[in-house]
Amino acid sequence: MKRIAMFVLALVSMFSASAEDGSRLWLRYDKVLRATVTGPECIAAQELRNYYDGERVNLVIDAAMAQDAYRIQGYTITAKNETGLLYGAYALLRGETGYSAPQWPLRILNHWDNLDGSIERGYAGKSIFWETSSGKQIDDNTPVLQRSEVLPLTGERREGLINYARANASIGINGTVLNNVNASPKMLSAPYLQQVKEIAAILRPYGIKVYLSVNFASPMALGGLKTADPLDKQVAAWWKAKAKEIYRLIPDFGGFLVKANSEGQPGPGDYHRTHAQGANMLADAVKPYGGIIMWRSFVYGANHKGEDRVKQAVSEFVGDDGKFRDNVILQSKNGPLDFQPREPYAPIFDNMLRTPQMAELQITQEYLGQSRHLVYLAPIWQEFFGFVNPDRLVGIAGVANIGMDRNWCGHHFSQANWYAFGRLAWNPRLTSEEIAKEWIRQTWGKTHAALLSMMLRSREACVDYMMPLGLHHIFKFDHHYGPEPDGFKANYPLEWCPVYYHQADSLGIGFERSHIGSDATSQYAEPYRSLYDDLRTCPEEYLLWFHHVPWAYRMRNGHTLWENIQEHYNHGVAEVEDFVRIWQDAKPFIDDQRWQETNDRLLHQLDNAREWRKVCLDYFRTFAEGKR
Ligand code: GCU
Repeated sequence: MKRIAMFVLALVSMFSASAEDGSRLWLRYDKVLRATVTGPECIAAQELRNYYDGERVNLVIDAAMAQDAYRIQGYTITAKNETGLLYGAYALLRGETGYSAPQWPLRILNHWDNLDGSIERGYAGKSIFWETSSGKQIDDNTPVLQRSEVLPLTGERREGLINYARANASIGINGTVLNNVNASPKMLSAPYLQQVKEIAAILRPYGIKVYLSVNFASPMALGGLKTADPLDKQVAAWWKAKAKEIYRLIPDFGGFLVKANSEGQPGPGDYHRTHAQGANMLADAVKPYGGIIMWRSFVYGANHKGEDRVKQAVSEFVGDDGKFRDNVILQSKNGPLDFQPREPYAPIFDNMLRTPQMAELQITQEYLGQSRHLVYLAPIWQEFFGFVNPDRLVGIAGVANIGMDRNWCGHHFSQANWYAFGRLAWNPRLTSEEIAKEWIRQTWGKTHAALLSMMLRSREACVDYMMPLGLHHIFKFDHHYGPEPDGFKANYPLEWCPVYYHQADSLGIGFERSHIGSDATSQYAEPYRSLYDDLRTCPEEYLLWFHHVPWAYRMRNGHTLWENIQEHYNHGVAEVEDFVRIWQDAKPFIDDQRWQETNDRLLHQLDNAREWRKVCLDYFRTFAEGKR
């Protein structure tokens, strides 16, 4: 009798399960209501009771366990606290056993969300955190809002945030920065801080702390002070009072993320102070509460204007090494330029050895086809960890690709990048393949070898059809999507112009960054310094990043550089043609809506890949074949 009841229950839950529209992410569990769970009553217990299809689970708290670690042995999950049990529960649900502990204590998403609900470089709809109830656009001149004008977190919106928290907890993400690094000072006004408090309350049970990006000039914009000079006593006092206000509302608030003196943002440099002086002033404000400052090194075009852009971060920060407070972490993008499909690692990781550092990876595909192209990013991050030892970092940040779209990320396969970020943040030694397999199994129902192959080849395909052999930043102005190799605007900073980066001329192509050029290679530690500096030893995938190379140069396959460039573009397009075929063949195994939506995107990607090839080769040909 009991068995029949259970069968009926399972059947009902099967049919009542939401349609396959991607909204359930990789957590496509149906309720089985089978397991008896003993131990502390917590979310882990609820999740297992609902979804685990074993008979029983014991949850055990053991204070001797490491923070966030879990052990799954037989029927028992052991962890230090409820968050650890939750990580263990999700691990059990995806079939893991044994002991596991995260590489870093800080595993943080960075949302570039604006207070009006728009998202900088977001391609999956509006912000899940912010929207004005009046729909009114907020800009710098809008007066501080009343509480009633900030969207209340009720109903579906609240439900969405719970699902967001759950998805993050399932992969071990334990922090989130709620607003854009290009931060509005209004973020720190009372109505918004109330909202932050409510968001924090929703995320807290899932082990997720909230952080905020702050605008360095907030004391002026919000506090009416005449300066934001970090050495001014009133300024420091303003930040101390603000920190106190925040921690009164949110006692476990994580801290601040700061973009200063970069791309027009205010910073300590406006007062001839160093980054360390700016960061330390903020660090002192949050220190009494255990808060941290994540200070970004993404700077160019200010103090070292005119220098090769990829060198500027090191030039600007190296003098500050060892001068930061112990609760400041320098946060740097994986590459020295800006989230390109392929970059060498950023040499700042070699140069700030007395400063705690975090890497910033980009999950949203700003320069990788946005949410229109299928590009699995784990290989980029794995490549980075091959150069920068994870043990040298104290944490990891990922620029989120999450929005209000039904499937969260715009493209069903972009969900894999959110998933992979979390898994690598937990264990950077997992391979791209292992992670993709896990994700495919959970997201598409079983392991599909063809889908796996497509995902694993997708990043290299993108490099090939966009910018092979170390080419970079030849995107159209502003939107960073299509190609514009002839892009040059006299009224723009040179560092935004494609022609500055590829330097194509009648002799050859590429940016000379060896000792005979900008000498960017000198910022690297050995062995990479020498390896990259010498044209003969420079790996071909970085060739045109580091060298200006003659069109007729003989490459390792015996063909000329110009022939190689064409081969790469052709290969990139052929790969996408193959992805389209793979997806056609997969149709019988995939549910309709997700199949159709992905198919539309793949066909679009193929058009784009062909466009990239045509535009770039037509342009480069005019030099390579001596027509200029
Ligand atoms: C890139 C991106 C900007 C962003 C900036 C940053 O330049 O295009 O939108 O603000 O990086 O990371 O600060």
